[in-house]
Amino acid sequence: MSAPFSSPQDPHSYARPADVRVHHLTLDLAVDFSTRTLAGQATWLLEHLAGSSQELWLDTRDLHIDAISLNDPAGPALAWALGAADTILGQALRIELPAGAGAVCVRYRTTPGAAALQWLSAEQTAGNQPFLFTQSQAILARTWLPCQDSPGVRFTYDATVRVPTDLLALMSATNPQTRNPGGEYTFRMTQPIPAYLMALAVGDVAFAPLSSRTGVYAEPATLPTAASEFRDLEQMVAAAEELYGPYRWERYDLLVLPPSFPFGGMENPRLTFVTPTILAGDRSLTSLVAHELAHSWSGNLVTNATWNDFWLNEGFTVYFERRIMEKLYGRPYADMLQVLGNTALHHTLAELGETSPDTHLQLNLAGRDPDEGLNEIAYEKGNYLLLTLEQLVGRSRLDTFIKEYFTRHSFQAMDTESFVAYLRHELLDAEPGLEEKLNLQAWLNKPGIPAGAPPVHSTRFEAVEAARQAWLAGTPAADLSTAAWSSHEWVHFLQGLPALLSSVQLAELDAAFGFTHSGNNEILAAWFPHALAGNSPSVTEALEKFLTHVGRRKFLVPLYKALLAAPNGRHRAQAVYAQARPNYHSVARGTLDELVGPPR
Ligand code: BES
Ligand code: ZN
Repeated sequence: MSAPFSSPQDPHSYARPADVRVHHLTLDLAVDFSTRTLAGQATWLLEHLAGSSQELWLDTRDLHIDAISLNDPAGPALAWALGAADTILGQALRIELPAGAGAVCVRYRTTPGAAALQWLSAEQTAGNQPFLFTQSQAILARTWLPCQDSPGVRFTYDATVRVPTDLLALMSATNPQTRNPGGEYTFRMTQPIPAYLMALAVGDVAFAPLSSRTGVYAEPATLPTAASEFRDLEQMVAAAEELYGPYRWERYDLLVLPPSFPFGGMENPRLTFVTPTILAGDRSLTSLVAHELAHSWSGNLVTNATWNDFWLNEGFTVYFERRIMEKLYGRPYADMLQVLGNTALHHTLAELGETSPDTHLQLNLAGRDPDEGLNEIAYEKGNYLLLTLEQLVGRSRLDTFIKEYFTRHSFQAMDTESFVAYLRHELLDAEPGLEEKLNLQAWLNKPGIPAGAPPVHSTRFEAVEAARQAWLAGTPAADLSTAAWSSHEWVHFLQGLPALLSSVQLAELDAAFGFTHSGNNEILAAWFPHALAGNSPSVTEALEKFLTHVGRRKFLVPLYKALLAAPNGRHRAQAVYAQARPNYHSVARGTLDELVGPPR
């Protein structure tokens, strides 16, 4: 176990880190909103691992390379070549090195269509100021930075970023808390991170502290709401530390992005990016923050070696997220999250099919866009494996194991085989028959859910199920006792309703509970498919508002699917998509172009 981890070949990177590997980046960029480009230079410090190699291989996609020199911009020019362009992987950048070269400096520019970048015009933000943010996971860092874009390669960085003077720049690094009049910001990340955790955001954002080491950035109009929604942040960090050891990244801040952010959250080190769709007003959707925080251990400290091992990032993180929520809000609360997760897991299994290899935990994504193969399975089946292990060995032994796992592999990559070897050595081998009881190989390399997985159950949902039954049996909606329900109860109520309700039933529910005008996006997303299936006319306006305002792919995909299945669906979906598409990030556009049809 003590031998240094040597990363397996990453099918999604052209880099050859076993020969020459980067270990530190000095980045110097100017952000130009008028041309929608970043321009500047990336200086990489090198480590030579195979004495014979005289080449540095970097990943790029849609970058314009201006010049490459040894050591610094004034150094001697180096010969370089770009390889053939692949639509998924981009182009290899091969740089010829003099023997033992210590550093290379790449002068480059991004192109306006760079897939990691979303440039928002002033009209697309709350504060009427332009906004830029990056989304590098899984393999999009290479669209804004020539890099070894493989999660097994880590580097430290410092950066200088120049932006318009009325905007603030933030990165996955030490961050400013106030604007500086010159518009120039410097950053430092002293812990080594993989390229997919490189992040930059530029906008009219302000900062509110939540504790001495936590805080939140948001557009000024959103900041008070955000500060109130996330007031338990310090407690979350403390709970996480109690579970699995010290937080290793100094500060933990959140950045609330404009609503077009394509994900719920992204665990950029020191600065988690979150969607504003979790600002529900009642702190009901903050498990997402616990999730991104948990990645500070699972993912950011111990990192999946390739995207085939994605479950090591997300499965552990979901398990950890729910343990944090349990510590803060109790077991009955965390149990609701487990049941909702389990519902989503079964939904995904049904969608992918009983026998699909994409339902294995260990994936084979070679030749495909990782974005297509990374789904709910890694999250919920991964979590379910850990729940099963918990049931077999008990919480206290599992917790010791997980804490040790994070400590021993900090700032390193982990692949599925190495994890299995470690698990056997630390837990399974001590007890004959345990591995068979766990059914480990079935979890990793077989479809579906292995036998022996413990059932998940929520006592709070028993009341929801009883209410749902009562209503279906004729009790008026207004007579159900729902006053104490959180949004989780409402989502469970909605998800368990028959797919097809009559328009009378839909109208009754909406009149009693006001779903169509709910301020909670999870409730809206669970309600709209019912309303669409029942062809409820009153929902059209609210749905269109949602689809043109929100860019979170997890909501968009099922809603467009539901819309497509409704009467005259293709036409309606295309009409709203044409209007909404300019507001979506490339990650969401890629998925929806395929589903709805590209713009005409
Ligand atoms: N790291 C992921 C987001 C991601 C995964 C981006 C793969 C690109 C490729 C993040 O931690 C995440 O899982 N976000 C979820 C929320 C979570 C509560 C399940 C999301 O965005 O919905
Ligand atoms: Zn995650």
